[in-house]
Amino acid sequence: MSAPSSHIPVLLEEVVDALRPAPGETHVDGTFGGGGYTRAILDRGAARVFAFDRDPDAIQYGEALAATCGGRLTLVPERFSRMRQALAARGVDEADGVTLDIGVSSMQLNAAERGFSFQGDGPLDMRMGKEGESAADFLNNAGEDEIADVLFHYGEEPKSRRVARAIVAARPIERTGQLADVVRKALGHHPGMKKDPATRTFQAIRIHVNEELTELEGGLAAAEQVLSEGGRLAIVTFHSLEDRIVKRFLKARSGSLPSGSRHLPAANEAGPAPTFDSVAKAVRPGAAELSANPRARSATLRAARRTSAPSWPPLQEGAAR
Ligand SMILES: C[S@@+](CC[C@H](N)C(=O)[O-])C[C@H]1O[C@@H](n2cnc3c(N)ncnc32)[C@H](O)[C@@H]1O
Repeated sequence: MSAPSSHIPVLLEEVVDALRPAPGETHVDGTFGGGGYTRAILDRGAARVFAFDRDPDAIQYGEALAATCGGRLTLVPERFSRMRQALAARGVDEADGVTLDIGVSSMQLNAAERGFSFQGDGPLDMRMGKEGESAADFLNNAGEDEIADVLFHYGEEPKSRRVARAIVAARPIERTGQLADVVRKALGHHPGMKKDPATRTFQAIRIHVNEELTELEGGLAAAEQVLSEGGRLAIVTFHSLEDRIVKRFLKARSGSLPSGSRHLPAANEAGPAPTFDSVAKAVRPGAAELSANPRARSATLRAARRTSAPSWPPLQEGAAR
């Protein structure tokens, strides 16, 4: 396996400021990737970091860092939605900070053989965890309506039906280059277009194959469960679908959904107590970061602090949507 090309951590200072790691503390990095956040949390003096990644390659690359940390870094090859169980299995039931940096790393995007990108041709895979249904499995077996729904909901592709029809007509599709050509032909493409028309389709299929939005909801609920009183949560997202989930979760859990919301109990009904406070305003990258790292373009950081209230029961999950 070749060495990974590096991933520039996004909003790094802002994330670490929000987490405020301190000596003696235990932190969870739910998305280890290239280890940028983990390194910074350790540098700021946290006693221990449990770093999750569902991608076995990321965990393998992380072993070199773990070997230099004298037992302070534990790599966990798991989905972050299973954070509570994975920590409990390691004898840990509370953390002082949890961070998630949603999406794919530059290493994943740049490796043509992982099939995430149409910049280089590769097999149509897109599985972060290298297991389950691949992008090719999905596109070659799903019905046209199902494909159109995925493109519409996860890619916000306005011409989802047209693209789905073209995909079904071109099956079997096995390569990223082939899929990109099918989409470009269906939507029209000319050199000099600001955004490649295949971008939305690739995003949608990646989100679907990796169940990314369900994972994010599960990760937020798991963070609520593992954070101790006063613990800090910092979440970085890269598009509006994800940011909406985080924003609504924090609004609901801090008791500030707008009045009249059908999700809130009537004023005289006691609802669950807020589990988060100090919800910070959304933070976006500044000009210096954007010029150094264009990939930070659509990043949004949201952060909050855990209260002492018990976690909301699973039944309340719908309130976060
Ligand atoms: C944007 S990168 C993180 C980069 C990292 N913050 C850094 O500074 O290098 C996202 C990483 O999260 C992993 N990932 C995405 N969804 C995950 C999930 N549900 N559970 C665990 N890891 C996940 C991906 O495999 C990828 O390596």
